[in-house]
Amino acid sequence: MRHGNTSPDPPVDAASLRRQRDHWDQTFAAHPDMYGTEPSAPARAAAPLFRAEGVATILELGAGQGCDALFFARQGFRVQALDFAADATAAIAAKAAAARLATALTALPHDVRELLPVDAGAFDACYAHMLLCMALTTAEIERLVGEVRRALRPGGLFVYTARTTDDAHYGAGIAR
Ligand SMILES: C[S@@+](CC[C@H](N)C(=O)[O-])C[C@H]1O[C@@H](n2cnc3c(N)ncnc32)[C@H](O)[C@@H]1O
Repeated sequence: MRHGNTSPDPPVDAASLRRQRDHWDQTFAAHPDMYGTEPSAPARAAAPLFRAEGVATILELGAGQGCDALFFARQGFRVQALDFAADATAAIAAKAAAARLATALTALPHDVRELLPVDAGAFDACYAHMLLCMALTTAEIERLVGEVRRALRPGGLFVYTARTTDDAHYGAGIAR
């Protein structure tokens, strides 16, 4: 995300992007359940909102190891989880099967810089916890948000979190 810097995004080269994906693959391999097994606070806050808004289907972007996706599935929502770390999405699918939630929760590897592999208007809600502040240029974020709009039915909800200027890591990395 851009913060206080109005210059154009620096180009992101293919090698850096591959390193990002490798980073997440290796991090998740080294730390199964690195974010714990409990749902995040944003997921717990989103579930009653989704229910109040009549949400049945959720598209989760950057689902990581699936704590929130499993939580939503256990809450009765139908969830499609996407993440570019293929081992992580395989782990989510295995956890869903073990919990007898394979019908409610499916997980696929996908890089959100590509067009979303979903039909227009297919989802009631989209959820992305700490994805929009990953290594994405402003143009990629704008295109992704347009894709989220395409994936949502009219009036659908997009719940997302990202780092803020209050975050301990604010200012670290490349400003976009
Ligand atoms: C900070 S983690 C958050 C994971 C999960 N939402 C959670 O809260 O436990 C960011 C996630 O975004 C994924 N990610 C980063 N860039 C991505 C991209 N371009 N396409 C898809 N997933 C991406 C990473 O693999 C990682 O799982």
